[in-house]
Amino acid sequence: MKNQETAQAPEARVHWSSRWGFFLVTVGSAVGLGNLWKFPYMTGSNGGSAFVLVYLFCILLIGVPLLMAETLLGRRGQASPVGTMRLLVAEAGASKAWLAIGYIGIMGSFLILSFYSVVAGWVLEYTWQAAGGFAPAPKEAFGQAFSDLLANPGRLIFWHTLFMAMTAAVVLGGVTSGIERANRIMMPRLFLILLFLTGYGAFAADLPAAFRFLFHFDAAAINRSVLFAAMGHAFFTLSLGMGAIITYGSYLDRATSIPRICLQVAVADTLVALLAGLSIFAVVFAQGLEPAAGPGLLLQTLPLAFSQMPGGQVVGFLFFVLVVFAAWTSSISLLEPSVTLVVERFGLGRQVAVLLVTLGIWLLGVAVALSFNAWSGVTLFGLGFFDLLDTLTSKIMMPLAGLLIAVFTAWVMQRRHVADEIGLSGRSFSFWYRVVAFVSPVAIAIIFLNVIGILG
Ligand code: TRP
Repeated sequence: MKNQETAQAPEARVHWSSRWGFFLVTVGSAVGLGNLWKFPYMTGSNGGSAFVLVYLFCILLIGVPLLMAETLLGRRGQASPVGTMRLLVAEAGASKAWLAIGYIGIMGSFLILSFYSVVAGWVLEYTWQAAGGFAPAPKEAFGQAFSDLLANPGRLIFWHTLFMAMTAAVVLGGVTSGIERANRIMMPRLFLILLFLTGYGAFAADLPAAFRFLFHFDAAAINRSVLFAAMGHAFFTLSLGMGAIITYGSYLDRATSIPRICLQVAVADTLVALLAGLSIFAVVFAQGLEPAAGPGLLLQTLPLAFSQMPGGQVVGFLFFVLVVFAAWTSSISLLEPSVTLVVERFGLGRQVAVLLVTLGIWLLGVAVALSFNAWSGVTLFGLGFFDLLDTLTSKIMMPLAGLLIAVFTAWVMQRRHVADEIGLSGRSFSFWYRVVAFVSPVAIAIIFLNVIGILG
């Protein structure tokens, strides 16, 4: 006889309308400011190819296997990250401590969105300016314009507010008619614009110099801080460890094969980062600019280039629209985990949940915006609020959650449940399983320990 627990099936969860729908939303989550803004500036600040090489290794050894594991957890749980972990912990008879995976994820996505939205706000401001065309000016003027924006709390908060409203508007629409529909509209256009721009960049700028900078092999340049930054970025760019993928996986039906689609998502995400890196550095070198300009790289170099290039107004505007699409589809995936938790936990309607969560994130974002100006003197561990949030999430919470997810999947869940859910068999299953059981956790642990070495 069936026992009570299993007989009372939970209410059926909404599902994406097809595997293509899941692919689009997941690529939408993965491809974001991480690819277009963070990857180029981190590569520039971390010595170019050394960073790229470690990043590619991390994607392959840690990122892809974990992307599959995280999707698998979500699909099996069919609930919010916390609800999912509750179910899986019960199924495995494991300690409640594993719920940490769910809680760290919810907290992480909440924190990330607070600063992500401020940066997306910069992009909105530049999109607005690009629509009118960037007036030609000496290169220092573009650096100054960016510093002026950061120094202006009113403008930062205005754009941050607009961006949070855009994000909330989509999530209000629900899983298929909000999130999936927005991705169906934006993602194909994003790829078309990117292809067009790369083609254009190949003719207008110094592609060979960019190529050398990104791919020239130089093992000696790899050091601890490069390792740490590259691993953090691999997590960030694939949206790992922070509840987003568990949540999107929870809207996936049982018929879809997880491994293939996850591999395709990772390939698409990596391609976008490399294409963006190539085109941006091609411009940077053609203009004789500094690759290690930091977070302002994208916003100082490109407007300069667009102000001088033939057709710069149209191309510049298209470029910033591309970045807005990328940021928007990612922020949606950062809002949904907390929303689904609030709905599940407090029995609130989606509308109320979206409003509450958005308000909380917005408030924190205001503090981030102020950390660039009024509160710039306030630091903790030598970091301003913005850097603190970025470091805490990318370099600590994500790898930690990733480690826990790997260990939980391979060592705590029953092997037959995992095999059943991932839908691999024979050799390919054992290969993936061993990577998740040994390679990914050991790689994360080594990089972590190295960092403790730096601190100690
Ligand atoms: N991956 C996105 C980017 O590259 C950012 C992002 C979206 C994210 N959802 C996430 C990062 C969840 C970590 C966790 O811009």
